[in-house]
Amino acid sequence: MAQAQRSREGEVKQKDLSQHYLDLYQKCYWAPLTQMKSSKPIFIKSAQGCWLTDFSGKRYLDCGAGFVNVNLGWGQKEIAQVMYEKAAGVMFLGPGFIDPVQVLLAEKLLQLMPPELGLKKVFFQTGGSEANEAAFKMARQYHLQSGHPTKYKVISHWMGYHGATAAALSASGRLGRRVRFEPLMPGFIHVAPPYCYRCFFGQEYPSCGILCAQDVARIIELEGPETISAYISEPMSGSGGQNVPPPEYFEKISQICKENNVLLIMDEIITGFGRTGKMFAMSHYNARPDILVLGKGLTGGYAPLSAVVTTEAIFNAFYTERDKDKFDHVITYGGNPVSCAAGLKAIEIMERDGLVEKSRLLGEYLGKKLGEALKDHPLVAFIDGKGLRYKIELVIDKKTKEPLLAPHLLQRLKQVYMENGLIGSVVGGEVASVGISASVSPPLIIDKADLDFAVGVIKTALDEVVKKI
Ligand SMILES: Cc1ncc(COP(=O)(O)O)c(C=O)c1O
Repeated sequence: MAQAQRSREGEVKQKDLSQHYLDLYQKCYWAPLTQMKSSKPIFIKSAQGCWLTDFSGKRYLDCGAGFVNVNLGWGQKEIAQVMYEKAAGVMFLGPGFIDPVQVLLAEKLLQLMPPELGLKKVFFQTGGSEANEAAFKMARQYHLQSGHPTKYKVISHWMGYHGATAAALSASGRLGRRVRFEPLMPGFIHVAPPYCYRCFFGQEYPSCGILCAQDVARIIELEGPETISAYISEPMSGSGGQNVPPPEYFEKISQICKENNVLLIMDEIITGFGRTGKMFAMSHYNARPDILVLGKGLTGGYAPLSAVVTTEAIFNAFYTERDKDKFDHVITYGGNPVSCAAGLKAIEIMERDGLVEKSRLLGEYLGKKLGEALKDHPLVAFIDGKGLRYKIELVIDKKTKEPLLAPHLLQRLKQVYMENGLIGSVVGGEVASVGISASVSPPLIIDKADLDFAVGVIKTALDEVVKKI
């Protein structure tokens, strides 16, 4: 604990501490995604495994794994130890210098890649938004240096999320996060998401012939293939709705991209590192990305780190005799040694403890339990997911598919979660056509008893919401 915090906690009586910190929060602090006027956050005193404890001693099971990044849970002392060692020594290096842990982590990441994809080079950044920015710039500079200077546009989905910075937000299709900042950057085109329940073309799967994928070819034709640099997608959407695309979707997209010399960027910032029961979610789909973007679970949330992984072919466009052909991009803290040490240890723990397989098996258990408890619930349209990432699509009327958007009902849902010690989120919900769903994405170290607890609280909360309709 920092000295400033230790002495403050000596001065203020234990029972007043929570209020003291809340006063400071209201006086000095500005939290993200938060209406500060009504905000009353819970101050957390300690955390262990999947559980957080507040200053009154109340415990909460975090079924959101922080921001879907704390895959290894809290209290992994081995990670803290390697971070400490780096922080006490080579904690940062300027250009031209490198710490062995940076190249060791690059090597380790490449060992995890499906070999058939030919992903051979790793470029580190700090967060997910930055990594996507770097991926767009990498794609753009690649085309410039490989004889296709007019390729600059990026295609992405409505309902997708790629980050909060300028280009990443321009690619994002989450209305709530975008609209007030429009017009955003030119050259970003949004297409229909693979969201079968509310198909943007009014079709049914599988008779649709995955029209949403085919439509990408039409958009490329209309925009002009000579103008399109890249197509970016999460393999399964995250905060925009957690859709699980049809199995053949990304094979088709990969093919369309290859035919049009459009680079396929897979944003696995949420789905990577076992979240969906495979090391990477693209492996559920036979997707063939040219650029893979990783973040969040890479360090299990212990340090900010992201990575852009790409092919030799892309790298070679930068690997020339001319200095000006280098990738002209830097972020001060990108791939810093403390974060790389955390990443290397986090992957070691993931492998040692078999967390990817655990995610797959526990995911099957979670899906079964959610189904048993909620399949016939009046507010539940369907339950879908893979590994430890499930969504429960919430509707007010199963026949009309009207989504459960009323603020007082959502408020009640969250209230019952908190009263019962469960941290969980709802995703989507900005307009009716994107629906809304409750999300279950706990740390991958969770056990069956805690999953049972989570399912029980979700059921209680939905039952309480019904009473308010
Ligand atoms: C799929 C996806 N991409 C990118 C980002 C942005 O990452 P960051 O918040 O670390 O910048 C997020 C964040 O939630 C995400 O879910």
